[in-house]
Amino acid sequence: MDKKKAVYQREDAGFVRVVDEFMTYQSQVANTYDRRAIEALGFPRNIKRVLDIGCGNGHHLKNLKALFPDSSWVGIDINSQLIKKAGQLHEGSKDVTFKNISVFDYKPDAPFDAVFSTITLQYLADRMDDFFKQLDLFLKPGGAVFFFESEKSYNAIYPKNPSLVRLCAAIDQVVMDPCITIRIPHYLEKYGFKDIQYYPLIFNQYNADPDLYFKYLEYAARVTQIMAPAEYTAEDLNALLHIIRDKEFKKGMIYNFSGAYVVAKKGAAS
Ligand SMILES: C[S@@+](CC[C@H](N)C(=O)[O-])C[C@H]1O[C@@H](n2cnc3c(N)ncnc32)[C@H](O)[C@@H]1O
Repeated sequence: MDKKKAVYQREDAGFVRVVDEFMTYQSQVANTYDRRAIEALGFPRNIKRVLDIGCGNGHHLKNLKALFPDSSWVGIDINSQLIKKAGQLHEGSKDVTFKNISVFDYKPDAPFDAVFSTITLQYLADRMDDFFKQLDLFLKPGGAVFFFESEKSYNAIYPKNPSLVRLCAAIDQVVMDPCITIRIPHYLEKYGFKDIQYYPLIFNQYNADPDLYFKYLEYAARVTQIMAPAEYTAEDLNALLHIIRDKEFKKGMIYNFSGAYVVAKKGAAS
């Protein structure tokens, strides 16, 4: 768990470049699924003041903001280099501000209508109580939360190709917490949230554009290599890049990236 917590403490140029590219690409992929989830779950469209916890380079925030007219956003992140990139991306925008701070230290001037957090709880899995106590402070009564997190991937590989197995093992063991999504509803309930809804997502080459999917797989492997170089070596990465260029391999492969959206509302003040 310590390794996972430390993943985003790196701020060297090589790390920031690979992560920045991955986040930018990932936010494009997420766009369609976010829209679908927001629609299907009846997530409120009239939110005005919004917080994004773990906003990274600000690309995902930009796409999300576009779905909520007249909303103003605050993005917070512990990584000073990523938040700098977010500031550059949104330069000149009056209704977006960024703060380089940990979620555990942030004290907003006023509570928000909604809080978003995507693929960030993964890195805070050993401080779930602290996180949900903070969330309570961040939100107005009746305010909405929106999470997206990914899930354990190992079981979703067929056949058990050694290259993919090594990638999934490194992701699950070192990079991300594979069981986070199923824990979120429990914590929401514990901290008095209502209308908790869970919306699973599976992303693979059969339900998305295959080129987009294989590009995603490549980015996931590159980012895993830089985050966990001892567990996922440069040779591992090269082997994977080699097989995903092979048409025959692609035809026979099944590998699902899975995840879930979770939305809920903070209970009204008693
Ligand atoms: C996988 S990225 C997700 C970025 C963005 N939300 C997205 O969907 O593209 C996780 C982000 O959480 C940030 N993070 C990790 N621990 C944090 C903490 N304690 N407080 C604020 N941000 C944190 C990292 O720096 C990183 O930018």
